Amino acid sequence: MNLTKEIHAKIKQEGYITFDEFIDMSLYFPNYGYYNNPNTEFGPKNSDFITAPEISEIYACSILKFYKDIRKHKKIENVLEFGAGSGEMAFNFLNNCDAKNLPNKYYIVEKNIHLIEKQNNKLKKLSKNLYEKIVWVKDIKAIDDVFIIANEILDAIPAKFFKKEDDKFFEKSVKEEDEKLVISLLDCKEHLLEEIYSIESRLGSKIPNSYSFEINFLQEKFLSEIFNKISNFILLIIDYGYHEEEFFHPQRKNGTVQFYKNHSKIEDIFSYPHGSFDISVSVDFSRVFRTALNYGIKLYSFTTQSQFLLNTNILEFAQKIEGEFDKNNILKTLLFPSDMGENFKIMVLCDDISGEFQSSFKDFRHKL
Ligand SMILES: C[S@@+](CC[C@H](N)C(=O)[O-])C[C@H]1O[C@@H](n2cnc3c(N)ncnc32)[C@H](O)[C@@H]1O
Repeated sequence: MNLTKEIHAKIKQEGYITFDEFIDMSLYFPNYGYYNNPNTEFGPKNSDFITAPEISEIYACSILKFYKDIRKHKKIENVLEFGAGSGEMAFNFLNNCDAKNLPNKYYIVEKNIHLIEKQNNKLKKLSKNLYEKIVWVKDIKAIDDVFIIANEILDAIPAKFFKKEDDKFFEKSVKEEDEKLVISLLDCKEHLLEEIYSIESRLGSKIPNSYSFEINFLQEKFLSEIFNKISNFILLIIDYGYHEEEFFHPQRKNGTVQFYKNHSKIEDIFSYPHGSFDISVSVDFSRVFRTALNYGIKLYSFTTQSQFLLNTNILEFAQKIEGEFDKNNILKTLLFPSDMGENFKIMVLCDDISGEFQSSFKDFRHKL
């Protein structure tokens, strides 16, 4: 049975599936989900989108510089990377790290068994002493004193979708009509309405009619695992997203969800085979911050990708790139505001850090 059949079967059983269930099946269904099948590619050649670690080695060099700075103020022995893509970040991080700063272990949490094989093939090319540092883990419970990298992970965690019409909130779901999948609006359950009203109360204004938006409830589960299981960490969350006021900007009427195939956005998702395109939802960083606060976690920094990279010597590392044309293109993509520079944010959370270590990045924490 392929994924389309699986989705139809589930809808037949239950009458509908909510949009977060639809995303979960589309991205993570065993063997057929976009991120769970043997064909998933992250490299620039065969992928549907490109992430910063894949654009250039210098991105990992900047992250490494930050790791080294943090190590001067905090006992950091290990690195943990969630969803390591093609393995590019891990490869470049370890390959550029001086002996004095090498982590004891570089842990990778990877949901896709096929990707583990691809990552392993790439990382085997490291020298033996570096390769031996890499450990793929399913559970993060015995990992402490760790620098954690979550690059474009939260945007791949399924969110719930909502729409306000005629002064009423609905949850978006997927159902069948004449054997075809269509979007349908369900009455919003009470606990979801409460969450929406609390957003409106913080915004100090009502969400307008004909307005679609997303709320990611599952990201709390992901974050709480880290906060509960790991002690002594620095967590870097890198993703496209906004603070709450910008996330719920009245002009963003269609929400932040994006469907990507062959480096282009697609609109009519039901006309493509399920599991054949990427689905991502921008991160509401104010929500992430509130979760962190609830677990007693501190916000060390919230800034834009360009501010972070410029302060971690990306321009110096750019000397590594051969050819003026390539160098300019890579720097533009990583730094320009209309590209990744301002659309991507970097949030740094930690359970404890020396008061002497002040962030040098332009500070946007007050926006959260
Ligand atoms: C857009 S890709 C980013 C991959 C890579 N970090 C990069 O930047 O190239 C999103 C990845 O997040 C992974 N992911 C989502 N939830 C995860 C979780 N709970 N633990 C580990 N990986 C997760 C997905 O499997 C997918 O590989």
